[in-house]
Amino acid sequence: MGDIQAQEVKRLIREATEAMAYSYSPYSGFKVGAALLADNGNIYKGCNIENAAYTPSNCAERTAFYKAVSEGVSKFRAICIVGGKDGRLTGFTAPCGVCRQVMMEFCNPGSFQVILAVDEACYKIYRLEELFPEGFGPENLA
Ligand code: THU
Repeated sequence: MGDIQAQEVKRLIREATEAMAYSYSPYSGFKVGAALLADNGNIYKGCNIENAAYTPSNCAERTAFYKAVSEGVSKFRAICIVGGKDGRLTGFTAPCGVCRQVMMEFCNPGSFQVILAVDEACYKIYRLEELFPEGFGPENLA
């Protein structure tokens, strides 16, 4: 399987940007979209979904993960994240700590790639282990 190719990166950026259009974020006005690439080739898209009671809000990344896992898919290669105030893509949007912990549950930290993008020409790629060093995960309980 290996590292993600430039072509796949561009597709994930497009799909994450499409997903952002559905962001339900009336409280923060900050729109986020994610596109999660599974080992089986499927791409699961997600947006952030806020709530009047605030704490039930769900990030775009977790929406994408939970869509996949709830359909029986739980092996992943990469996720792309885009976001910005009112959907204006002017900088990188990095995953929150809770989402990094969820990635840790389902992904190999040494190989899973996290793409932070502004557009198809402007992105950077991290490994989960760089964003979440010494993370606690399923291996610790094995
Ligand atoms: N948010 C995400 O969906 N993903 C991130 O990576 C950062 C934050 C959402 C949560 C909330 O709806 C809004 O952005 C502002 O924090």
